[in-house]
Amino acid sequence: MRTLKPQDARRIGTLIERMSLTEKLGQLTMMAASHTVTGPQIAGHSTDDIRSGRIGNLLNLIGASAAREMQRLAVEESRLGIPLLIGLDVIHGHRTLFPTPLAEAALFDPDTWALTAREAAREAAADGINMAFAPMLDVSRDPRWGRTVEGPGESPWVGQWLAEAKVRGFQGADLAAADSLAAVAKHFCGYGAVTAGREYASVDVSDRTLLEVHMPAFAAAVRCEVAAVMPAFTDLAGIPMTAHAGMLRERLRRDLGFDGVLVSDYNAIAELIQHGVAADLIEAAALALEAGVDIDMVSGAYLKGLPVALERGLVSAAQVDEAVRRVLTLKARLGLFEDPYARGRVAQSAGAVAQRRRLAREVGARSIVLLSNRDNALPLPGATRRLALLGPLADAPAEMRGPWWCAAEPDAQVSVLEGMRAALPQAQILHASGVDIAGDDESGIAAAVELCDGADAALLCLGEAATMSGEAASRAHPGLPGRQRELAEAVLARAGARSIPVIAVLFCGRPLIVPWLAERASALLAAGFPGCEAGHALADILTGRLSPSGRTPITWPRAVGQIPLYFGQRSSGRPTDPIGPFASRYIDESNEPLFPFGHGLTYGRFTLANLRLSSQSATASDTVEVAVDVENRGGRRAQETVFLFARRLKSRVAPPVLELHGVGKITLDPGTRGILTLRLPVAQLHSLGPDLAPVLEPGAVEILVGPSADRGSLLAGRLEISA
Ligand code: BGC
Repeated sequence: MRTLKPQDARRIGTLIERMSLTEKLGQLTMMAASHTVTGPQIAGHSTDDIRSGRIGNLLNLIGASAAREMQRLAVEESRLGIPLLIGLDVIHGHRTLFPTPLAEAALFDPDTWALTAREAAREAAADGINMAFAPMLDVSRDPRWGRTVEGPGESPWVGQWLAEAKVRGFQGADLAAADSLAAVAKHFCGYGAVTAGREYASVDVSDRTLLEVHMPAFAAAVRCEVAAVMPAFTDLAGIPMTAHAGMLRERLRRDLGFDGVLVSDYNAIAELIQHGVAADLIEAAALALEAGVDIDMVSGAYLKGLPVALERGLVSAAQVDEAVRRVLTLKARLGLFEDPYARGRVAQSAGAVAQRRRLAREVGARSIVLLSNRDNALPLPGATRRLALLGPLADAPAEMRGPWWCAAEPDAQVSVLEGMRAALPQAQILHASGVDIAGDDESGIAAAVELCDGADAALLCLGEAATMSGEAASRAHPGLPGRQRELAEAVLARAGARSIPVIAVLFCGRPLIVPWLAERASALLAAGFPGCEAGHALADILTGRLSPSGRTPITWPRAVGQIPLYFGQRSSGRPTDPIGPFASRYIDESNEPLFPFGHGLTYGRFTLANLRLSSQSATASDTVEVAVDVENRGGRRAQETVFLFARRLKSRVAPPVLELHGVGKITLDPGTRGILTLRLPVAQLHSLGPDLAPVLEPGAVEILVGPSADRGSLLAGRLEISA
């Protein structure tokens, strides 16, 4: 962390000397206002507690005037006048919503990831917020887990790039600036590996998996000086993260060098009792403080439990002071002592708001992944005169927000119906939902199917409700809920009989298991939850105003039984290749995914050829340039995304079959070619040896370049690493 200004260091020292125990514990407490609900409701705070210094921080407060009033109470009416941290889940936008994080990850574009965080920070700061509970960095390889929607997907490499971009975006160049927020990297660590994808369930992963898969994104956030980290609700091999001194004090603070604030998850300190590691709030508070948690989010355990824990000698006054110092240091870094009201004062001009919506439309469109496109069903022909717009997500503006909507109004979101009407003003758009998102009612199917007759195309908008992913939304059957399959089958049958193309769009927070739909729809798109401009963004893609460019950041399985399925698996001693029964495969399902990591089509038709490396051998200090010729043989201008993978051919520890090391993009007009060059710093190829220490082993590495993690689509080269 950057050093404090001398006057801030002095101020903090003096404050700590003057503070009563209650005032200190107040600084270690964050209570929930009731403007938005993100956890079980706990007895509301009283403004008197802010005045008396018992509450030093708030969350879930929305609106500049409310934030200013609370800040005023703390600054002008409490004895020591210490300003509040005011935190909120600014996950993918604040008032203007961008695509949900998993959808946005499909851009594979760190500058845009940073830009949307910057814009979200500006908007939230204008509402008096100074802390964002983001970025969420939990790698997930299990689509059953609802929170997959909030994170970077399956790849630790994407997790790192996203962490850097988002911290940069939220915190800006200067954390004290009136439009910067303290970012909170969460949830440390391994939450994405909950048993069987079941929310809040136990996590039990090896040290190696922790270090290789789950920690790198947090290490990247710490390198970027993330202001705060939130421990996960979950336990790791039996030790709840909120009480995990080994993970928090040793791995995070000592090994990674994190010296910012640790803020507990919602009520997580009290939940140590439910975990079964604390008998009461006193023990729970002592365990969390001992582990290094600075701020107690809403449980009240620090306020109630720490005085007794101190008396009993379970924790020391020095530990309390250490946590208070960290909280006050963050407040100083945020510039709150100098001007506690600066953030709420940043007015948002109408121009800035409009510009942000334009960005939301562009990013929304770029987040959409075209999974299949038979016979060039898309883009819709210019001559489209009649469109059957069907399905429960066709006119569902509020659902477009996805599971975290912060301060976004439900009616400020553009539905598909609205977007398509605007994009195709001459066309007749016949709309019916047919079925609800969930539920058993099939009575609307027949009428919906009728609309296909005479239509040029049927557009089926299917998927999950916004609240079917996110926190507390694990699904054992991650397919289409309710009677949507029945609707889709009926539409496919009718449209098929009349040779009408069926374009299916999936709005969802996770990959859905829909092999039957992928096989039969003329085109299939994964739209995630594209944010406030959803309908316009989708229309831009469907009408061909933009060529799709999103690539899935997570493998789509064909069957629940394949989960976890991800590109970075190890090969096993009996990989799938050999003929014969004794191989690592299912007897009743293919090993292949429905769609591999990185998959996504465009309206161009790209070929890659002539992979070359600037050098065939290299040492740790070298950077190798990997170049490939790209040609657009299609009929439309489009952007191709190219992934750079590596495969260590031999290493002391069995290597993953693919490791991601880079991504590049190139936009080409029809019939043109270009050269895409990716840079590979060789040091990046290090792995963790048998002792878990980083090592760059000499030997051959296969360099693989292509449009997705599908092995068959990759061009291969070879690099010899020498010591
Ligand atoms: C979630 C966190 C969130 C917090 C505050 C919790 O339930 O796990 O991700 O930041 O609530 O809303």
